[in-house]
Amino acid sequence: MFKRLVIALLVIVVVGVVGLAVLAYRPALDPITPPARTSFAAELVAKGEMLAGAGYCATCHTAPGGQRYAGGYAMTTGFGTIWSTNITPDPQTGIGRWSEAAFRRALREGVARDGAHLFPVFPYQHFNQIDDADIKALYAYFMTREPAVAPARKPDMAFPLNVRALQAGWKLLYFRDGAYGPVSGNSAQWNRGAYLAEGLAHCSACHSPRNALGAEQLDAHRYTGAVVDGWYAPPLDRSNPAPVRWSEDELYAYLRHGATPLHGVAAGAMAEVVHGLGKLPDEDLRAIAVYFAGRAGAVDDAATAAALARALTASAQAAQPAGDAGARLFASACASCHYNSAPQPLTERPELGLNSAVTAADPSTLIQVILHGVGVDAGLPGVMMPGFAHSLGDEEVASLAAWLRRTRSDQPPWPDLPRTVAALRAAPTRSAATAQR
Ligand code: HEC
Ligand code: HEC
Ligand code: HEC
Repeated sequence: MFKRLVIALLVIVVVGVVGLAVLAYRPALDPITPPARTSFAAELVAKGEMLAGAGYCATCHTAPGGQRYAGGYAMTTGFGTIWSTNITPDPQTGIGRWSEAAFRRALREGVARDGAHLFPVFPYQHFNQIDDADIKALYAYFMTREPAVAPARKPDMAFPLNVRALQAGWKLLYFRDGAYGPVSGNSAQWNRGAYLAEGLAHCSACHSPRNALGAEQLDAHRYTGAVVDGWYAPPLDRSNPAPVRWSEDELYAYLRHGATPLHGVAAGAMAEVVHGLGKLPDEDLRAIAVYFAGRAGAVDDAATAAALARALTASAQAAQPAGDAGARLFASACASCHYNSAPQPLTERPELGLNSAVTAADPSTLIQVILHGVGVDAGLPGVMMPGFAHSLGDEEVASLAAWLRRTRSDQPPWPDLPRTVAALRAAPTRSAATAQR
């Protein structure tokens, strides 16, 4: 009896292991002779360039100071560091010998040409929404780039997390297969926006919180905001903290120009997103705005928005710099640029009482902006804000943030501010890496 039980258990274990192995197994796809550059039509390559921008391929596949798309950009995760790979057409160290089918499989299924599973920091769980025509254009673009010799670097992760076959288990748990299909009952414009936002532009990769295994949380948690690389990407659903509700026009302006008078600027990683989307035509950005206007319950009521902006600007102006250390710091370090005496704020002088950085659940973005400023390449083109990392200490930054929170929002105080400031100051800045590109 006992013997039979052991045998039954053994059978179950063996079947399980074999099952997982079968599931994990992906064949290598045959290498090809690198195609001639001239075999790709110029219009297709141009379309691919536009799409590569909107997928931020360069952001992740270019190391600071390195050749574009040669990989080697370090991505720190809770499980260790993973370096992006070389996606130039070098035959040995890049994707020069990848067929279009191998490229498509990588984007759709997270599997390399040799059959190895890729880690989900590569956002294939969004890229699987990209349609065949767009993948064809991306392939044409990458196969016509300047080849770079740059071998892949092994992930720095503890065993067994570094075992690629185990990624099959992760996929089983979290990967939802399937290309984007239009959602009926919504306009063609809305569907175009959803296609771009959920696929190539993977907005939710930063704007949705992740679970303990690094997978984006779904359903009610989608787009409820998350901290990425030390910045806070605010919720893009109805819980968005902007004091004046977003409208479709404001969303469009923010994505197109990186700044709006009623909501402030796109800094940090969001500045790279705005640059990336830059080559998309207006109607595509309008479509993305329409899609998020729906998600965020945006209201197109310019008169109400203007009245609210007026009221918030007036109450920010009335916040007296008496007594409080944060108030005095604001008066000396910030007010010269951030004080709006007119009833309507100017885009170049963001009114902090209107900014999600001050009203959000998490202070990271406000602290980053105070420490590192906003570069000329972020927010409004050619306009910058200086950083205060060298002139203000942790306690000073913390008291300034606390005072802004108290006088310009109706939200509870942020806990542990000095500690958060110290941690963000110590972390490597993403903007330093971007500046090199
Ligand atoms: C958020 C960062 C990120 C973005 C954005 C990104 N990638 Fe990647 N990509 C990675 C990382 C990291 C890897 C390596 C994963 C691994 O080693 O398992 C990778 C791997 C790949 C691979 C497999 C290459 C190989 O040698 O195995 C291809 C192909 C690829 N990316 C293409 C693209 C394209 C095309 C885009 C833009 C549409 C893009 N990636 C955008 C991070 C990114
Ligand atoms: C790589 C991470 C990342 C991706 C991808 C990303 N965002 Fe963001 N987003 C951020 C961060 C960080 C902020 C905060 C920037 C700031 O306040 O300066 C932000 C801010 C925003 C805001 C302003 C919200 C507010 O209330 O102030 C909007 C709107 C927005 N993103 C929309 C989008 C859309 C639409 C996409 C996809 C097309 C997208 N984001 C993709 C990181 C990202
Ligand atoms: C020399 C002028 C100047 C000073 C001084 C200055 N700022 Fe700014 N600030 C700007 C400009 C300009 C922008 C918009 C940046 C852009 O478009 O590149 C900005 C943007 C911001 C934003 C919006 C960021 C976002 O993501 O929307 C915040 C928050 C902010 N500043 C806070 C402060 C605080 C707090 C101080 C004082 C410690 C300060 N600023 C001092 C000019 C300044």
